[in-house]
Amino acid sequence: MTVMKDSPDGGSRRTALPDAAATEALGAALWRSWPGGQCVVLLDGDLGAGKTTLVRGLLRAAGHDGAVRSPTYTLMEPYELTAGRVVHLDLYRLADAEELEYLGLRDELGPGTLILVEWPERGRGVLPAGDLHIALADANHGREATLTALTPVAAVMAHPMGISPSDQ
Ligand SMILES: Nc1ncnc2c1ncn2[C@@H]1O[C@H](COP(=O)(O)OP(=O)(O)OP(=O)(O)O)[C@@H](O)[C@H]1O
Ligand SMILES: [Mg+2]
Repeated sequence: MTVMKDSPDGGSRRTALPDAAATEALGAALWRSWPGGQCVVLLDGDLGAGKTTLVRGLLRAAGHDGAVRSPTYTLMEPYELTAGRVVHLDLYRLADAEELEYLGLRDELGPGTLILVEWPERGRGVLPAGDLHIALADANHGREATLTALTPVAAVMAHPMGISPSDQ
């Protein structure tokens, strides 16, 4: 894994994701490194970049064995798991950031909640500040992830243990 820059909150790390299983493995590694407090993960990347795949890997590692789909129309999907609470947001179709207030996002927040947001820029102004930014982009027929800790809470998650051995 290459440390791209150093900063007090952990800097950015880039890792190769050669296939969808690697994207799921990154999600699983994030789950294992989540310290447990409220944490907002911003998932950045074009349509089909692998954002939902990462969330699926995380939820499977967290013990969820049902289906995981983008909540494209409902926008928000909470998962109550024995090991914690995960809230998955997909704001692609969010017309107005205020709509998030009506959905009751505020009630979903709190300690012990890990929030993963696809298309976070559409919720700007209403969404809580991000702790961890993950950019997914096409690379060599697969993807590449760049993880940046925005707050100390997420510094440990930007360096997830057990990340794919194909790290660059
Ligand atoms: N590292 C990877 N290499 C190749 N294919 C991948 C990789 N990660 C995910 N994929 C595949 O990319 C496709 C799109 O993935 P996914 O639905 O997770 O994207 P998304 O970013 O959530 O898209 P959207 O913005 O439409 O919600 C899926 O077929 C998935 O299996
Ligand atoms: Mg998606």
